[in-house]
Amino acid sequence: MKKYKIAVLKGDGIGPEIVNEAVKVLDKTAEKFGFEVEYDEALLGGCAIDATGVPLPEETIAKCKAADSVLLGAVGGPKWDNQPGNNRPEAGLLGIRGALGLFANLRPAVIFEPLKSASPLKPEIIGDAMDIMVVRELTGGIYFGERGRLEENGIPAAYDTEKYSVPEIERIGRVAFDMAMKRNKKLTSVDKANVLESSRLWRETMIRLSKEYPEVELSHLYVDNCAMQLVRNPKQFDVIVTSNIFGDILSDEASMISGSIGMLSSASLSGEKSGLYEPIHGSAPDIAGQGIANPLATILSVAMMLRYSLDEPQAAQAIENAVAEALKTVRTPDIYTDGTRKVSTSEMGDTVASLI
Ligand code: IPM
Ligand code: MG
Repeated sequence: MKKYKIAVLKGDGIGPEIVNEAVKVLDKTAEKFGFEVEYDEALLGGCAIDATGVPLPEETIAKCKAADSVLLGAVGGPKWDNQPGNNRPEAGLLGIRGALGLFANLRPAVIFEPLKSASPLKPEIIGDAMDIMVVRELTGGIYFGERGRLEENGIPAAYDTEKYSVPEIERIGRVAFDMAMKRNKKLTSVDKANVLESSRLWRETMIRLSKEYPEVELSHLYVDNCAMQLVRNPKQFDVIVTSNIFGDILSDEASMISGSIGMLSSASLSGEKSGLYEPIHGSAPDIAGQGIANPLATILSVAMMLRYSLDEPQAAQAIENAVAEALKTVRTPDIYTDGTRKVSTSEMGDTVASLI
């Protein structure tokens, strides 16, 4: 029997609760589709700071490198707000993305039919379907550029640097063009080329790359315009490719259009088989431990893992179908509406697992 080794980083806040449900669903899927999964837990984020003093222990990197894929919950919380910047839980997350070379972050924003009414947009704006794939560069730009504090004439100041090299832009561009080829062949590259030099290089590089993909219709939007277009007419988008920080912001916006940030999964890839899979939402410390968090984004991240890293597309589809089916009857509080049954985090996991 095929056996996959998954490194599991539950993290902080609601992380452990949502990952437990995703594991429950993966175990059921494995049983159904005839493979085995072995889990190897490791510490990342605040829980790692508490246990070892640092947000990303060496042991965690080693376990992730040894695994076929990594499943992550979420990191961070007010408890660690006073840590110095380079020792915050979030630094652990950036560290593991960097250490594993996960430069391509895929964040699909899709509307689940039963959740249409949860979208803050009018039904006529969403239309029949919204299906956007945000391809976010994940290991470069201002997140990884030089930063620091200084004093200018006795006045305290701070700076962060946005820098991209041509190879960095090309490799994320290729991921996005390839993705567009598998979808509706429309790619929107988002930048701020009217102001930023790094964006002008980004745009030039995307245009040059587009010659290799004559079938893909490439267009460009400034990030502010893109933020506006996403709520004005989200149906115009197929694949969006953008830098680390713009992708962070636009993917949150795109996710909200779909009704709840608790629904959206993500894949972070390095070009190798293995990847890191996590919900796009955070650790929600305010609701941690109450059993009310929505585990569906993490469950759907497992589906992405099966599709992109483990070559189990049917198992992936089975999870996505089970989620769609579960939504018809049960809802966690964030997506609850009249006529459905309000359930806890673990009841939602049980329901999805039972539908596999
Ligand atoms: C995300 C998160 C992270 C990011 C934070 C927690 C560092 O917002 O994955 O979108 O900004 O990348
Ligand atoms: Mg974010």
